[in-house]
Amino acid sequence: MNPPKHVAIIMDGNGRWGLKKKKSRNYGHKKGLEVVEEIIDISIKKKIKYLTLFVFSTENWKRPQREIKYLLSLLSLYIDKETDNLIKKNIKIKVIGNTLKFPKLLRNKLKKIQNLTKNSNKIQINMALNYGSHQEILNSFKLIKKKNLSINKKNIENHLYTKGIPYPEILIRTG
Ligand code: IPE
Ligand code: MG
Repeated sequence: MNPPKHVAIIMDGNGRWGLKKKKSRNYGHKKGLEVVEEIIDISIKKKIKYLTLFVFSTENWKRPQREIKYLLSLLSLYIDKETDNLIKKNIKIKVIGNTLKFPKLLRNKLKKIQNLTKNSNKIQINMALNYGSHQEILNSFKLIKKKNLSINKKNIENHLYTKGIPYPEILIRTG
């Protein structure tokens, strides 16, 4: 059987998992990231070409500041630590979502990692950050309007964050 081309994962339940282990929600987030690293390696072995990770949603801003700060610092540290490895493993990172709300330093890091890996072709990881489906559709409409194009299905699809990428065949929610 052919492997799926595109697998999408909604990361969920990490905080509850940490508490269940009698540790903290943040402990769960940290472990969650370690699992992501394993998932990436397994996806490469399974020859999956696109892996979409729903990391941080537009809803997640409602969380306590402390937790948000921790989540963003984990992401920042991950980029610092993994950049060389991602390049070596031929992994392309693409951020989907509106990152304007993130701190400048993190935005720069995200820009840099996307640039450094833009020609990689083993697997593409779509990292959904401050992502919301309504926001993705709105963004598509704005781009269409800007270009003065007509509103039709093809144009809407062509201006989604994931244009040119096959739709996910498998969607997993972890929590
Ligand atoms: C997923 O786990 C990680 C993020 C959304 C950042 P959650 O943080 O949603 O964990 P629960 O669902 O509250 O346990
Ligand atoms: Mg959750």
